[in-house]
Amino acid sequence: MRSLLFVPGDSEKKLENGVSSGADALIVDLEDSVAADRKPAARDIARAFLQSAKRGAQKLLVRVNALDTGLTDDDLDAIVPGRPDAIMLPKAAGGVSVTHLHAKLDAREALAGLPDSEIAIVALATETAASLFTTGTYAGSSSRLAALTWGAEDLSAELGAEANRDESGRFLDPYRLARALCLAGAAAAGVPAIDTVYVDFRNDAGLRRECEEARRDGFTAKMAIHPAQVAVINEVFTPSPDAIAHARSIVAAFEAQPGAGVVGIGGKMYDRPHLMRANILLGRVKS
Ligand code: COA
Ligand code: MG
Repeated sequence: MRSLLFVPGDSEKKLENGVSSGADALIVDLEDSVAADRKPAARDIARAFLQSAKRGAQKLLVRVNALDTGLTDDDLDAIVPGRPDAIMLPKAAGGVSVTHLHAKLDAREALAGLPDSEIAIVALATETAASLFTTGTYAGSSSRLAALTWGAEDLSAELGAEANRDESGRFLDPYRLARALCLAGAAAAGVPAIDTVYVDFRNDAGLRRECEEARRDGFTAKMAIHPAQVAVINEVFTPSPDAIAHARSIVAAFEAQPGAGVVGIGGKMYDRPHLMRANILLGRVKS
């Protein structure tokens, strides 16, 4: 999965546009992009969309409201029967939040007659100040945990910040910390890390730079807020032929010297961490 496009759950039009956007996944949103008085309508529209959508390569996620809002149960009651591929949990406060959501899903899958643990969980791990201190607690929280991602908008509101990016569009220190904690938390939990949204949706050059920096640092996907962002994200997060060839050469060099801890290729040293990185990249090419 390279691109995940947010679509407000109360907009049938945008849901329809999302299907043809080329995004690897849609995140049908019941949370921040839906006004309080539209939540019931959004649940109905989201469920109908899930039930009528032709299920193919495009994954369908639903972002529910946070566990402390009192809205999560109604969200899940409405949408679990529509068999979403995953639930995105906003304002997650570490592994305990994921375990909590896991239990809620267990009950509803049983009631809806769905296979156990079919629905995955993607957690938004850095949206509150307190959650920054729990990003290392996701390992073992749930077999459903499929990825971690991070958010800067709610966090900047909670920190009382005037801005979260500098004049050149780069994230400021508190958000770079959140981003790094998401990356480390995901790696520690053995799941992929998904980069946050780029809100300046008419700025393709800025989006491309942010995608490239995310890929460089270890993110394997990025969320989008507008269909126009999908092509750039897909392009940057598709491993290039050069990167694939290089990874294959590392794997081949280690296979040619079983038992070797370190090999030389083209005058450079490669050891076990390089082999691990190469295998991760090749795993993404297969999936
Ligand atoms: N998903 C699907 N379709 C979308 C879309 C999205 N996220 N954002 C825009 N579109 C569609 C519009 O429906 C429109 O379709 P049309 O040409 O068939 O009428 C087309 O793309 C062009 O839209 P545009 O005029 O460029 O954007 P806008 O000003 O109408 O909308 C936003 C701007 C930001 C409100 C909109 O992109 C959006 O709702 N994004 C998602 C917000 C969200 O979910 N946020 C929560 C997570 S941070
Ligand atoms: Mg939010």
